[in-house]
Amino acid sequence: MKIAVAGTGYVGLVTGVCLAENGHSVTCVDIDDRKVALMKAGVSPIYEPGLEELMVSNMERLDFTTDYKGAYRNADVIFIGVGTPEKSDGSANLSYVYGVAEQIAASIEKDCVVVVKSTVPIGTNDKIEGLIKSNLKNNVNVYVASNPEFLAQGTAVRDTLHTSRIVIGVEDKIPGNILKEVYNNFNAPIVVTNRKSAEMIKYASNDFLALKISFINEIANLCEIIGANIEDVAHGMGYDNRIGNKFLNAGIGYGGSCFPKDTKALHWLANFHDYELRTVKAAIDVNENQKLKLIKKSRKYFDSLKGLNVAVLGLTFKPGTDDLREAPTLVNIPLMLEDGANVKAWDPVGIENFKKVHPEDVTYCYSIEETLKDADICFIFTEWDQVKHFDLTNYSKLMKNPIVIDGRNCYDLESVKDATMVYDSIGRETIHNLEVSLI
Ligand code: UGA
Repeated sequence: MKIAVAGTGYVGLVTGVCLAENGHSVTCVDIDDRKVALMKAGVSPIYEPGLEELMVSNMERLDFTTDYKGAYRNADVIFIGVGTPEKSDGSANLSYVYGVAEQIAASIEKDCVVVVKSTVPIGTNDKIEGLIKSNLKNNVNVYVASNPEFLAQGTAVRDTLHTSRIVIGVEDKIPGNILKEVYNNFNAPIVVTNRKSAEMIKYASNDFLALKISFINEIANLCEIIGANIEDVAHGMGYDNRIGNKFLNAGIGYGGSCFPKDTKALHWLANFHDYELRTVKAAIDVNENQKLKLIKKSRKYFDSLKGLNVAVLGLTFKPGTDDLREAPTLVNIPLMLEDGANVKAWDPVGIENFKKVHPEDVTYCYSIEETLKDADICFIFTEWDQVKHFDLTNYSKLMKNPIVIDGRNCYDLESVKDATMVYDSIGRETIHNLEVSLI
């Protein structure tokens, strides 16, 4: 099938490449010349494990262009995968999606299905259809289908090729059948429903996962107070398959481009219809507090970070990505700097992006050892493998005060018990193995 994809971010590019891998001829459209030139040369403009390799091996079925007219003109199916960032009031900014819809209306010269992959508020597919139909330049049939994606950054290629489900929201049999053909080679259950339900499946899935994380974070906070261990608690809960053992990792809250935005957008939409989504509101509030958990913990050891050498391990919102959107470090590092700390930070792929926000006031290091050298305190924000496999004895060898505050529970407590350090993590007992009491 001849497919066009609008947008080459995580959603658009991964979708395009995976559809090419499944035999379709795909043209990816972006407005950014520089990105298009990179992709034409076989370079992925985003850091996503496995994506570039898959892109290169499918080059004969892939094309990249800024010429949207040429790409949309004769396409059988056009996927919209552009961003829907958060507006200041929490609602979703749909201007990019609507912009693409107008370009499609002006370009298509044969019947086609427009598939909305971007996460859009319930009812947006109807508006997109109205917009395209009222601006059509040529006399063709156009169908709009909702087909949300469920890929996570860092595992986007695997999540797409081996998706847990394919959701198709349509108001007509024709686009439903065409989409089934598009996904013919994918081995996944297909849920066909109407467009609003498909749009809601996406929000409800993300908001439920966000809720699960905020719930386990609250239980972790209580575990710390009463002396229980969150990992054992989550482990014990996870055997119940009505609960499941995934997304029960307590930490410093969810970040990224999806959960923060999608919880706020659904809450905003409910409010707009005079309904308060109280569970989602609670998830948002808990998450805002949880992000500051490590700084609050540091107050147990130092009244202020003024003049202290602070080591930060991990800058991105999760491992496997260079994305900083809503990363807890973006709120915590400014607080440390405001406090007067000397901040040294390490991340295997996130430094270049972080430098754009903090070009001068943070010292960037290219090894964990260099970051820890002479540090008074260390904060772990991202559970990179390099951190998880770091030799624990190095903390006391390198740091001035081996105090490690771990927001991602990277080490099991048994292994920490043999190391000379203070190890303060989330929802678990604090291990204090220093001869001198710092508290
Ligand atoms: C999320 C969903 O997982 C995808 O299914 C969805 O398609 C995607 O949003 C989207 O809407 O595009 P993503 O934001 O890339 O994917 O990453 P996740 O792995 O879900 O992690 C989100 C945040 O939750 C991270 O900050 C992570 O550290 C945190 N998290 C996750 C926890 O704190 N605990 C957990 O147990 C799991």
